[in-house]
This record gives sequence, structure tokens and C-alpha cells, in this order.
Amino acid sequence: MREFIYYSAKGRTSGNFKDLMSAGRLDIACHAVISSFFLSNRIREDVKLNLILDGPPDAPKHIEFIYDKEIPISKKDVGGLLKRMLFKYKKDKKTEVFPGCFIEKKSLRNLIKDYNHRNIYLLDKKGKDIREIEIKKDPIFIIGDQEGINKKEKRFILKNFNINLISIGNFDYFSSQVISIVNNEVDRKEL
Ligand SMILES: C[S@@+](CC[C@H](N)C(=O)[O-])C[C@H]1O[C@@H](n2cnc3c(N)ncnc32)[C@H](O)[C@@H]1O
Repeated sequence: MREFIYYSAKGRTSGNFKDLMSAGRLDIACHAVISSFFLSNRIREDVKLNLILDGPPDAPKHIEFIYDKEIPISKKDVGGLLKRMLFKYKKDKKTEVFPGCFIEKKSLRNLIKDYNHRNIYLLDKKGKDIREIEIKKDPIFIIGDQEGINKKEKRFILKNFNINLISIGNFDYFSSQVISIVNNEVDRKEL
């Protein structure tokens, strides 16, 4: 299974917000959800998406989407789904709010620690070309939001975990575009 980790330093960590843009740009997180899961005529069943929201008022939050035939993701209302999940968060507990939709308190570094035995790739313009390196089985791809991954967090994870930096070219793409391009590269490799 391929997996994405989307990191947002300012993504809001409670459901009491008026609109997605002023909630630390949760609109961009919604685009990441759509690019991770949606093909033209079906939902991808082989993808897991992790959102790490690290903004106010109760950071960090880890929202996990994993395919379930009852998963209630609709392109029309990903924002509403995120909001409901944030409202349903329970302290000290990983909660399955809806089928395939989980929320818990977990930081980026603790999530990566759980995954340290896996093949992890950090999307970065300065990395090696995705077409020139081997993408190993069950890859995990880390992507930043509109501000990228902050320097302190990036330095920590690169120092402490085995992470490969990979690039999809010389342009700065939107996070959701990066996910679509990576999905396409991995589809073509039939991984
Ligand atoms: C809009 S970009 C963020 C730009 C931000 N100024 C930065 O320096 O990271 C969002 C994320 O997409 C990924 N990204 C964008 N363009 C990329 C590229 N050409 N190669 C690899 N990753 C890229 C990175 O993970 C980045 O954090």
C-alpha cells in the first residue's frame, strides 16, 4: 500500500472554524485528500493518507484516512468531513470517527517513528529525481503544505530517521499536484 503524509504547521486542530482558508489553509488539506483518493471514476483502494495538523489550538492532530467500502469521502464536502472529525476527537484515544477515518493526537516525528522500518521519501525540489531512484515496496511520501515543512521539523526528521529526499522536477508544485504526480509515477511503476 502506498501512503502519503501531508504536514501542515498551521492547520487548525479543532472543528470550531468558519471557513477552511482561515483555518490554517485546511482547503489545501482538502485538495490533498482529493488527489490522494480520487480517480476519474473510482476511489483508490490502495492508498492511505495521513494529515498532520500542527496549528492552534491543540496541536498536533493526526487524521488518518484508509480505504473502507463505507468511507464517507465525497469530493463535495471534504471540509465538512475534516470539521466533524476534529469535533469528535477524544483525548488520549485513537478514534474511528467514520469507517476508515481516524483521529488521534500524534506529531509528525512520532508518526515517522512508527514507520521507521518502511521506505520513506520526503518530497523536496532539491532531492533526487523520482524517475532516477528506485521506489521500493509500500512507499511512504511526505509532503509539506503551502509553506513547506518548517526547518526545525525537517532537520529533526532527516537527522533521526532514514528518509530519502526526492524531487518531481524544478517547479514548485501545489501539494495536491505533487500527490497526483507521485500517484501517477507509482501507478506507472505498478507498485
Ligand atoms: C507549494 S510547495 C511548498 C513550497 C514552499 N515554499 C517550500 O519551500 O517547501 C508544497 C510541498 O510540495 C512539495 N513540492 C513542491 N514542488 C516540488 C518538487 N518540484 N519536487 C518535490 N517536491 C515538491 C514539497 O513537499 C513542498 O513542501
